[in-house]
Amino acid sequence: MNFELKTLDLKAAAGFNTDALVVLLPSHFKPGRDAISLLITKARANADLDDSVGKLLSIWHADGVKASRLVLVSTGEGSARSVRTATAAAVGALKSANPKTIAVCLPDGTQQRVHAVVQAVADASYVFTTTKPSAKASLLKRVTVGLPTAEKVKAVKGAFTTATALAQGVALAKEWGNRPANHATPTMLARAAQGLAKKSRIKCQVLGPKEVEKLGMGSFAAVAQGSSEPLRFIVLHYTGAAKTVAPTVLVGKGITFDTGGISLKPGPGMDEMKFDMCGAASVLGTFEALAALQPAINVVGLIPTCENMPSSNALKPGDVVTSMSGQTIEVLNTDAEGRLILCDALTYAKRFKPRAVIDIATLTGACVISLGHIRSGLFSPSDDLAQALMQAGEESMDLCWRLPLDEEYAEGLKSNFADVANVAGRDGGAVTAAKFLQRFAKDFPWAHLDIAGAAWKTGAAKGATGRPVGLLLHYLLRTKA
Ligand code: BES
Ligand code: MN
Ligand code: ZN
Repeated sequence: MNFELKTLDLKAAAGFNTDALVVLLPSHFKPGRDAISLLITKARANADLDDSVGKLLSIWHADGVKASRLVLVSTGEGSARSVRTATAAAVGALKSANPKTIAVCLPDGTQQRVHAVVQAVADASYVFTTTKPSAKASLLKRVTVGLPTAEKVKAVKGAFTTATALAQGVALAKEWGNRPANHATPTMLARAAQGLAKKSRIKCQVLGPKEVEKLGMGSFAAVAQGSSEPLRFIVLHYTGAAKTVAPTVLVGKGITFDTGGISLKPGPGMDEMKFDMCGAASVLGTFEALAALQPAINVVGLIPTCENMPSSNALKPGDVVTSMSGQTIEVLNTDAEGRLILCDALTYAKRFKPRAVIDIATLTGACVISLGHIRSGLFSPSDDLAQALMQAGEESMDLCWRLPLDEEYAEGLKSNFADVANVAGRDGGAVTAAKFLQRFAKDFPWAHLDIAGAAWKTGAAKGATGRPVGLLLHYLLRTKA
């Protein structure tokens, strides 16, 4: 899909060569005397178009309009969120027509609104076909975002470029998230990462079981030992600045399937544990977007990836493992495996002398209970880092919310048999998981994003969301010196 940005007022839009034309209308929009404006005036007078967000009117071969389909859609007060909702509704209404070209006119275009349009069009036209080729792939080839004046186009150009790169990154994250575990093994994820390394400024290194053992990653290796699929430790480098510039390190949880291990999960809904590598997918997606934008920053991506399976070789409740940090861990519950693979990746991150380390993980069901599916959980002892991530979330409409890290929450992680246990009680489960990780992140500014509720949708719309690639990319772009 190609996005283009154009000067297109409503008069020009009426004559514009496109299959479908979408006009986003804030309630304060004043129609002029062009053909589309006349339709808007009439529709408003007839109460066929009201100001509620996403309310739309589809017209076929409208008078004086070249596009065969015209969709007028209200954006209410015109916030970026409303623009996103309205655009999604309009593109949804066009789905059965399966247009090859769409133009979206934004009379009040700003950076945030343009970002919202690009994101909504990309999301609404996404179709997963890898294991379902019969699903009708979107035919959409060209999306034109139209603003009324050349000055407005100029003002949003940067945001537009970021948004299109982001759409590409989100699509990659969705693709890997959506793949079932037999089409997204640790080996296949590593190959995807190596594929990214063909792009400019990206390098990739993949470690296998032997190298991981040599590094002393006993905790990560222990999770992988129950599966016949070999683990992989993926190291990605994006080098856009001088080698001396400290990188930001992203660490993505890459459990390609989480059965729970010997602490087996209940059967219903277990298929959704194929999404337990969405943290890893978000790192891949972020690198895809970085490759498209080539910003002057350095980023390292670390992905510990394996399956969590029960077997005669599997890790058992009560086993004590030795992490790369030297700390011993009593594994009271083999289903708390995410923190066991992340802790070794966090220790590994230290060698890059990072300016910040951010881990991204579908870590706890408790986080879903706390925040639902709207905001990701954000944990950081650093107010500056937390604030920057929070702001990046707002900017990209990929929201998060800060949760606490008081030392008292670590009480339940005490063990008589090891330095730390991998679980505390049920209470405050998202926080105690973060407290566990914090023990391995003492040597650099660190933040943890629990994306268990944000990474995918359940029910009829089951599928990966590509979050939090938007948050991560916006955060990274602001770290430019
Ligand atoms: N991958 C799960 C977390 C999860 C569960 C994400 C449901 C999304 C929906 C993680 O590995 C896990 O199993 N966590 C346990 C931790 C518990 C054993 C302390 C959980 O949340 O139940
Ligand atoms: Mn688990
Ligand atoms: Zn898991």
